[in-house]
Amino acid sequence: MNIKNICCIGAGYVGGPTMAVIAQKCPEINVTVVDINEQRIAAWNDENVENIPIYEPGLSDVVKEARGRNLFFSTDVDAAIDKADMIFISVNTPTKTYGIGKGMAADLKFIELCARQIARVSKDDKIVVEKSTLPVRTAEALKNILDNTGNGVNYQILSNPEFLAEGTAVDDLMNPDRVLIGGDLDTSEGKEAVEALVDIYAHWIPRERLLTTNVWSSELSKLTANAFLAQRVSSINAMSELCEKTGADVNEVSKAVGMDSRIGPKFLKSSVGFGGSCFQKDILNLVYISKSFGLHEVADYWEQVIIMNDYQKRRFAYKIVQTLFNTVSGKKIALLGWAFKKDTNDTRESAAIYVADYLLNEQAEIVVYDPKVKTEQIYADLDYLNTRSSEENKAKVKVVNTAYEAAKDAHAVAVLTEWDEFKGLDWEKIYKEMLKPAFLFDGRRLLDKQTKEEIGFEFYAIGN
Ligand code: UDX
Ligand code: UDX
Repeated sequence: MNIKNICCIGAGYVGGPTMAVIAQKCPEINVTVVDINEQRIAAWNDENVENIPIYEPGLSDVVKEARGRNLFFSTDVDAAIDKADMIFISVNTPTKTYGIGKGMAADLKFIELCARQIARVSKDDKIVVEKSTLPVRTAEALKNILDNTGNGVNYQILSNPEFLAEGTAVDDLMNPDRVLIGGDLDTSEGKEAVEALVDIYAHWIPRERLLTTNVWSSELSKLTANAFLAQRVSSINAMSELCEKTGADVNEVSKAVGMDSRIGPKFLKSSVGFGGSCFQKDILNLVYISKSFGLHEVADYWEQVIIMNDYQKRRFAYKIVQTLFNTVSGKKIALLGWAFKKDTNDTRESAAIYVADYLLNEQAEIVVYDPKVKTEQIYADLDYLNTRSSEENKAKVKVVNTAYEAAKDAHAVAVLTEWDEFKGLDWEKIYKEMLKPAFLFDGRRLLDKQTKEEIGFEFYAIGN
C-alpha cells in the first residue's frame, strides 16, 4: 500500500518533530499536522522559522526545508483526517488528576476524542497509528470505538511508540537505535498496514532497525524502556546519598560501574531527580496496570523508582535549608535552570519546580534564570501544584534574564539544569555579587568542585 497523505493529530513535542522529519525524508508524501490549539499552529506557521513553538536543535532547518512543500500545519482537523491514508495520534496523555486511577493511570480522554472524530469523519479505509505513550491494550479500545461508531470503513491500528528524547529529538529521529511497529501480524490487512509504515521509515532507516511486533508487545516495550531508563537514574541517585555519607564520589562510582560492558555508561548520571513528560507517567502507568492485574509485588517494585526520585528532589531542597543554618525564610535563592534537562524549553515534571516549591514553603525568595523557558511557563508550573495562590507565587518568585542578575545579593545559587552555558559563567563575578558566606549547590554535577572552593563558595554537589 502506498501512503500519499499523512495526518498527525497533535502538534506537540512528539508530533511536530516526528512529522517534520517524515516530511523531509519522504518528499512525495503530504504530511499535515493538526492541533486544536490555534496559537500553537500559528507558531508552527510563523514566517520566521525560529519562532516555531518547540525548541529542538536542528528542527528549524528541517521545518524550513519541508514546510509549504509537503509539510503543513493546520487547525482544520476534519479536512486533514478526511484526506489522509494514515493518521498518527500524538495527543498528550497526562496522568489522571481525578477519579479512579487518580495520580497513576493515563488519562485517555484526548485519545478517545480523537478516535471518535476519526470515526465520524472517515469515508475510506484508514491506518491509525498510536504515537502517544499509552497503557497496554489501548489499541483494542481504539479499534472498538472506530469499528462501532464509524461509517463502516476499515481501520488498522498500529502502535509506533516514540523513543525520541527531548533536546536530541532530531538526531534521534534521523538515526534511531530502532523503530518499533506493532500491528496485527496475523491478518494480511494487518501485515499490509505494518508494511506501509515500514516503507515510510525505510526511506532513511536501515530495515534491520525496523522491528515489527504484535501491538501489545509494542505498547508494553515503550513503557518498559522508559521504566528501565528511569530506574537507572534512581539507582545512581540512591547511591549518591550513600556517597555523600561515605566520602565516595558518585561520578567515580558511575564511571567505574558504567565501564562494565554488561551495564554500559548511559543514564548513570546522578542528578537532582529525573523529570520530563514520560518517565514518571509511564512508570505510574506500569504500576497501575500491574495493580489492576493483582500483581502487587511487580507494582511495588516499579513504584520504588518514583519514590526514590521524589526523595532526591526533597533531599536536595532540604540540603539547601539545612546548610543555610536551618532557615531560608526571607533569603534570596537563585535557581539556575528550570527546564527538566538542557537543550529543551520543556518543563514538565522538572525537578526545579519541586525544589522551588519546597523552598517557597520555607518562605524563601526565589529568583530563576533559564536560557529557554518563558516566564509565564515558570509561574504556570508553580500554580499547577496548587500549593499556594498564583499571587503568592508571583510575589515570591522573580524571573530574570541572566545568571548574574539571578545571583546578585543571593544567599545561595542552585544549579538545577545542566545547560552548557552555566559551565562557562564567570563564577568569580557571581561570587563577588552574592551575600557572604555564598553557597553554591550543584544538582547536576556540572561544576568543577575545586575551582568553586578556590573562589570561596561553600560548595555542595550531589553525590560529592
Ligand atoms: C507526547 C505523547 O503524545 C505523550 O503520550 C507522551 O507521553 C509525551 O509526548 P507531547 O507531544 O509531548 O506528547 O505533548 P504536547 O506537547 O502536549 O502535544 C500534544 C498536542 O496535542 C497539544 O498541542 C494539544 O493541543 C494537542 N491536542 C490534544 C489536540 O490537538 N487534540 C486533542 O484532543 C488533545
Ligand atoms: C525519555 C526517553 O529517553 C525517550 O526515549 C522517551 O521517548 C521519552 O522519555 P526525555 O524525557 O526527553 O526522553 O529525556 P531523557 O533524556 O530520557 O531524560 C529524562 C530525565 O532524566 C531528565 O530530567 C534527565 O535530566 C534525567 N537524567 C537522564 C538523569 O538525571 N541522569 C541521567 O543519567 C540521564
